[in-house]
Amino acid sequence: MLNIKNILFQIKVPCFIKQQNSQKSWFHLNSVLRVLNVSLQNRCVVVNESSSDKQLHFMKFPTVWLRDNCQCNECFHQSSKSRQIDWVKFDTKVNITNITASDNSISIDWSDKHSSTYSLDWLRERDFHTDKREKYLNEFYRPKTKHWSKNDFKKILSTFEYKNVMEKNNDLKLWLQQLAIYGVAIIKNAGTDKTAVRKLADRVGFIRKTTYGEEFIVEAKPGAKNYAYLSTPLPLHTDLPYYEYKPSVNLLHCVVQSNSKGGENLLADGFHVVDILKKNYPHFFETLTKTVIDWNDIGEDGGLPFHNIWRSPVICLDGDGFYTRINHSIPQRDSHFNVTIEEVELWYEAYSKFVKLLQQESVSFKLSPGDILTFNNIRLVHGRTGYDDNENNVRCIVGAYLDWDIIYSKLRVLMKNYNKNEK
Ligand code: OGA
Ligand code: ZN
Ligand code: ZN
Repeated sequence: MLNIKNILFQIKVPCFIKQQNSQKSWFHLNSVLRVLNVSLQNRCVVVNESSSDKQLHFMKFPTVWLRDNCQCNECFHQSSKSRQIDWVKFDTKVNITNITASDNSISIDWSDKHSSTYSLDWLRERDFHTDKREKYLNEFYRPKTKHWSKNDFKKILSTFEYKNVMEKNNDLKLWLQQLAIYGVAIIKNAGTDKTAVRKLADRVGFIRKTTYGEEFIVEAKPGAKNYAYLSTPLPLHTDLPYYEYKPSVNLLHCVVQSNSKGGENLLADGFHVVDILKKNYPHFFETLTKTVIDWNDIGEDGGLPFHNIWRSPVICLDGDGFYTRINHSIPQRDSHFNVTIEEVELWYEAYSKFVKLLQQESVSFKLSPGDILTFNNIRLVHGRTGYDDNENNVRCIVGAYLDWDIIYSKLRVLMKNYNKNEK
């Protein structure tokens, strides 16, 4: 069979582009299986690749966008992959005076006397077609999230071997994809060395430091400076809601597990619970998205006193109504409530419903030493059941955080270099 890519062909576009809507005629020089047509329509360049019997690619690119994204050395700094066009002088009404196409690129002459060449591969990756933009956003920008209920948990939970994640790029990529899509995954057999979590974070990028340090040890401590450092039950919550830049992903490494009853971890998908609230209790949903809450943490760690406050609703939305963040922590909700008196009771009703739904949708499981529970702290809520703590029965979790910027960046690098760098 003929490989289309290997067939040399050339198309020339006559250079009489004067009227924007005119259809051009084409002629090709060789006998071809694939025909490339370029034309200008309504200040867009239309690139149409077809074979003798079917259309292969139909793409449209706005003129102004093409000029803005010229890839020549003058307009684009190659080593930093950065645009360096002088935008103070940039002419948004720039016109095309000539287009030519070869088998794998198109070249344009501009009314500002500049010339640009764009490879077809480069153009295909930037196709404005809705499907192509969606694919880019949902696969490359950030994998599309899938919300899960309590009943789905067993199906959606993935486990990975620590050694594989540390050594194989494909396992690292799959773990990060699971985290992005479902917000949870467990890494098994990490051993009980307290440095395992740091090594894992370093494999992705670097630890996100907080008031409580880089790694933090969760164990029952006398005179606990944080509510988590008790052996009592830890109700469902998100960590550090009192930070504007809340740490994104928790890594909780079980080093010693309690032999007593309890010490189980709890998890619920906050976004799924928001789906339920939005559908069944729209008034409560609205209240929790609009009422700004003061989250706080006052204390001292390693000799450093702190007083953190961040004001934000329980359910945060972006301009398109997508959920961006859940804030929830009973211990760390400030008694300062900066709303009018009339707003208070409705908010309490709404929050109470939300907390009950979170509880209803939560799962519990007991980690074994060597397990690292990893989950999205922006979206999931987590907690722990109480346990007996005494000299014969201790529990020790080493925790650390990663930020989504660092995780998504690593994921994109892995996706792009996947075939080249696979270990
Ligand atoms: C915490 C926490 C969970 C656990 O420290 O914030 O949620 O398993 N700990 O102890
Ligand atoms: Zn240029
Ligand atoms: Zn926590």
